[in-house]
Amino acid sequence: MERRLLLAKELLNPDDSVLIVTIDEKEYLRLGMLLEQVFPEARIQMITSVISVQGSTRVGMFSRADEYLYFVFLGDAEVAKVADDMLNETSNYSEKSQLWFQYIRGGKAGKATRREDSKNLFFPLFVDPETGRLVSVGDPVPLGVSRYSVHVPEGTVPVWPLFDDGGEGRWRTGVEIARRWHGKGLLRLGRSKKTESGWSAMSVRSGTEERIDRGEIAVIGRRDDGSAILEERSGANVRSPKTVWNRVSHNAGWHGTKIINQIMPDRSFPFPKALFAVEDALRFVVANKPDATIVDFFSGSGTTAHAVMRLNKQDGGRRRSISITNNEVSADEQKKLRAAGLRPGDPEWERWGICDYITKPRIQAAITGRTPNGDPIKGDYKFTDEFPMADGFEENVEFFTLTYESPMRVQSHREFARIAPLLWLRAGSQGRRIEALPDGWDVAETYGVIDDIDKTDAFVAAMVANPEARIAFIVTDEDRFFEAIANALPEEVEVVRLYDSYLRNFEIDAMRGVR
Ligand SMILES: C[S@@+](CC[C@H](N)C(=O)[O-])C[C@H]1O[C@@H](n2cnc3c(N)ncnc32)[C@H](O)[C@@H]1O
Repeated sequence: MERRLLLAKELLNPDDSVLIVTIDEKEYLRLGMLLEQVFPEARIQMITSVISVQGSTRVGMFSRADEYLYFVFLGDAEVAKVADDMLNETSNYSEKSQLWFQYIRGGKAGKATRREDSKNLFFPLFVDPETGRLVSVGDPVPLGVSRYSVHVPEGTVPVWPLFDDGGEGRWRTGVEIARRWHGKGLLRLGRSKKTESGWSAMSVRSGTEERIDRGEIAVIGRRDDGSAILEERSGANVRSPKTVWNRVSHNAGWHGTKIINQIMPDRSFPFPKALFAVEDALRFVVANKPDATIVDFFSGSGTTAHAVMRLNKQDGGRRRSISITNNEVSADEQKKLRAAGLRPGDPEWERWGICDYITKPRIQAAITGRTPNGDPIKGDYKFTDEFPMADGFEENVEFFTLTYESPMRVQSHREFARIAPLLWLRAGSQGRRIEALPDGWDVAETYGVIDDIDKTDAFVAAMVANPEARIAFIVTDEDRFFEAIANALPEEVEVVRLYDSYLRNFEIDAMRGVR
């Protein structure tokens, strides 16, 4: 554990960051001591978290219902107040603290939810399919008039209150309220893989609008689609979280194992964390940091990445998560594979490893809303918000395989393809990735790379023409070449020399070579 913590310390920002470590009853004492030793300047707290009220029997001892989370606060980092104090029943996340709801009345055709039950509540929302922005709210369509006869403004698609089976339902409010909420950013659209239009509508409730007017809920920003990002500010709904967490939503069986089963019906993972427990733990430290980077270097089933997607969806954040795992095959599985004559490294062996069999497909399925077999995921997320798991998330993901490379080969520029993802990550993980340099140089959205001195003019011109390109990687052994290009580039461009100095940047533990 000490080696991992020392590495973690190198990754943490001493001015403002938090390390969260979960641990069970066997090792929490040792871990606590180690944390004090490795992070003497930090503020450390331990949370007791109930993860199974059923308890796990210990003969002659207390039945174990909890595990522990250490929070290590560095610099200015602090705990955000949210709508649940994690302990008292009266403060549980509930319909009371939920801010966004499906705008369609009821999920299914049923009592008072159909179009014909309320004649003024069937009207179209016109959305710009490029941006997801709600452009306008159409007029109610009288009963008996087909929705297909309605004029659709150019550049928009209509979103109607339709049930999953295509039946016509109704919205929760009349058109006046819809238009007012539209004006205030309190009615918005999200991509949905389940609906006919590809969109589903969400809104606040009238009580929320009143609380915004009273200042109890703040509009802290706008999403790209113009809708309001809301945050509880005061009143009965904001509390200091306690050091004991007792929440049904943190039950590892119901909200860890079961979610994995829903996402990947034929695959299992031993002891995943409850998705909502990880989400809560992260919310306390990144609620007010919409651009945070969250690293989980023992990511297992990928719960952390999934929780970050949920947080981003809730507040329009752009948090990034980096999940790292090995590709180990479970002991039982290993026995079977060995008996079949297979060895580690064989493709037939590696495909059963945690990364290839669980972590990657889980993250992919969470985003696409589809199981590895391509079926829509069954069931809904039911927590601070409620929506079908099949809706997925508007997130991007890239998968990389970490390999061992010879520093000599890298230094002599014979492994560019292996280094390429690192450069892209270093430049902000956005836009196209430069995979090879057939022309001696290339400039993508956020960075450029050059290895041919004769192409300097073209490279510099392309960098100047692209103000978003903030980093230039220059592959050279010659100081003169490096300086000449560096001087010709705009001042704002960060110039990084490959490979001589750059190899050192990625070196965490020199004893183990460059990874
Ligand atoms: C206890 S699990 C994490 C569970 C995770 N929190 C979840 O909800 O699924 C620990 C994971 O770390 C991975 N692991 C073990 N040694 C590793 C190493 N040296 N580097 C990266 N991952 C490793 C294992 O494959 C295992 O899946």
